[in-house]
Amino acid sequence: MAESQRAESESSGNLTEAEIAVHWKEEEYFVPPPKFIGQANLTDPAIMERFGLDRFPECFREYADLLTWDQYWHTTLDTSHAPFYKWFVGGKLNVSVNCLDRHLPLHRNKAAIIFQAEPEEEPPQVLTFQELWVRVNEFAAVLRDHCKLKAGDRVTIHMPMVPELPVTMLACARLGVIHSVVFGGFSGEAAGRRAADSTSKVLITMDGYWRNGKTTDHLANLKASLDASKADGHEVPMVLVWQRYREKMLSTTPLQKGRDFLVAELLKEKAGVRVPPVSMPAEAPFFLMYTSGTTGKPKGCQHSTGGYLAYVAGTSKFIQDIHPTDVYWCMADIGWITGHSYIVYGPLALGTTTVMYEGVPTFPDPGRPWRIAQRLGVNIFHTSPTAIRQLRKVGPDEPRKYDYHFKHMTTVGEPIEPEAWRWYYHSVGKDEAVIVDTWWQTETGGFLCSTKPGIDRMKPGSAGPGIPGIHPIIFDENGHVLPPGSQKAGNICIQNPWPGLMQTIWGDPDRMVRQYFAKYNKNPKSTDWRDWPYFAGDGALIAADGYYRILGRIDDVINVAGHRLGTKEIESACLTVPHVAEAAVVPVADEVKGRVVEVYIALKPTSKTPPNEVAQKVTLAVETSIGKIARPKTVHIVPDMPKTRSGKIMRRVLAGISNRMDTGDITTLANPDVVETIRKQVQGDAPVATKKGPDDIARFGKVD
Ligand code: WTA
Repeated sequence: MAESQRAESESSGNLTEAEIAVHWKEEEYFVPPPKFIGQANLTDPAIMERFGLDRFPECFREYADLLTWDQYWHTTLDTSHAPFYKWFVGGKLNVSVNCLDRHLPLHRNKAAIIFQAEPEEEPPQVLTFQELWVRVNEFAAVLRDHCKLKAGDRVTIHMPMVPELPVTMLACARLGVIHSVVFGGFSGEAAGRRAADSTSKVLITMDGYWRNGKTTDHLANLKASLDASKADGHEVPMVLVWQRYREKMLSTTPLQKGRDFLVAELLKEKAGVRVPPVSMPAEAPFFLMYTSGTTGKPKGCQHSTGGYLAYVAGTSKFIQDIHPTDVYWCMADIGWITGHSYIVYGPLALGTTTVMYEGVPTFPDPGRPWRIAQRLGVNIFHTSPTAIRQLRKVGPDEPRKYDYHFKHMTTVGEPIEPEAWRWYYHSVGKDEAVIVDTWWQTETGGFLCSTKPGIDRMKPGSAGPGIPGIHPIIFDENGHVLPPGSQKAGNICIQNPWPGLMQTIWGDPDRMVRQYFAKYNKNPKSTDWRDWPYFAGDGALIAADGYYRILGRIDDVINVAGHRLGTKEIESACLTVPHVAEAAVVPVADEVKGRVVEVYIALKPTSKTPPNEVAQKVTLAVETSIGKIARPKTVHIVPDMPKTRSGKIMRRVLAGISNRMDTGDITTLANPDVVETIRKQVQGDAPVATKKGPDDIARFGKVD
């Protein structure tokens, strides 16, 4: 940090770490229902000793032993290139065998995936393990024979929530092909940039899908994807197009002969073909998942084959309490890490039935999720605080109208307010279900903090302790440990590696070290994992009971409805509009989505375009570059940006204005007068606010 910036952040007058905790009221505990404990996979408190640091890393054998290996490993953990770890070295396995083939002898015609379309009149589609296995084999044959893909090649998958998505992923897994699934709601351009970064040989997409009562022409994104990839120096040679309905196209976008192929056509000659699974080394890359960070370019988190699968299987069993007899429904999108780990790979590795829903939870009314749960007999339910807040807002009394019974519920992706938690517990869970608030990240592959559902008491708003084998620690900026009950917030880190931790950032290993490990590492040459705490990028507190409360990101990432968006990414999109001289993006607290995005724009002096026209162009640019999820709530066109004397835009001042919070000390700015002008423009003539806001917003823009 430069000296001038350090002075600014220290004199900002915002919340001190000690103050944060003072506002935090201790919540009362809830105990897991006895009926749940009676059937839980994990009830032995000795698990914490079994997974204690003194048993590390061998404790994770227990997870790896949940899998079927073609060849057993000889080394549980190789740290010789720390922090690039290798797990279960020497082992070989195939993911699709673990998710499908091995379940066939006992469960051939049990439901593997139940797909519920958004139109309510479309009956649920059941894919048994046999049927899913057949489809995966046939599609793997297309990838192998038509696309000529082999182990280690990359493909980009830009698809909505339909069963063809897990079919595609598992077919890649069968061949050892590395998939990179891009959230279907991301724009074509966003998909294309990711395809270029991974130099994908094939882009797999779909004609359209249902969303909010309408079909979407998803294939219309294709041109932008291919153009964006080309602009980044990579031409994607082949495109495969699935159809939502075999008998018709939901898109009017024409296919280009020789480049684009309808999957239905290619599958015709593959009926009955079986593809031998490719036995992959445990440490072979399995998939990439792009996520936002502090710089403009999304980074491809590379996950491993054996370590990742072992970790998601183990956590699905212990924390999700998945038994093969359960009907499990995670309402996330498979295009995010939650969907990879806890819709597809974890549940299927354990041979359970996983439910997929195509559409919007509140379509056509807020009773929809509970009708689905009732009809399918769902007993494990998994969703985000945003969905919980939304369903509570529009249909607080809906759950009790339906006869479903959950034994277990999960919340993930954002901090949950104790009030929303209690509605989830009493109304959705009908006081019968245990809740786990799971804290983790794209980079971590699986859960990090959560209560153990059959053992620990729950505390609304707190994720809980580190799960078995995960040993969190909170450091202050100077690397001092903040002990339990210290009432101070700091940076949450994990002391030890674990099998689900990403292997590297695709094509940028330095960034992996810089961003996640450099901060508290004292010896960059060390091959001892103890020297490499994993820096998560979240602020957190640990209470006297050892429960962690996650406060939110400490970097330039904004968590909108549980989706990670990089401010720099959004700002670069704004800067593509010709009239824009400067752009600054800030988070704004929102009742339902947690945070939303607001944009501040300073125009070029030469611009004659009316401000509202520029604002529209900026919104469109963000939607085109990233997708509708990043659409700014408001675009403010301002005369100038508040800046430091060294010319840095003070985003924290803008965040303060947008949130009607104290803007802190502005006397060190180069242009302090502009602050009042902007404040009046945004807030009107109301008196100056002095409210202290949420911690992540108060810190926003302070960390470089
Ligand atoms: C936030 C999603 C509070 C956090 C699995 C993290 C949470 C980021 C929780 C990762 C939780 C996730 N409580 N905050 N239970 N879970 N977060 O990569 O800021 O999309 O760093 O992974 O979401 O988001 P990502």
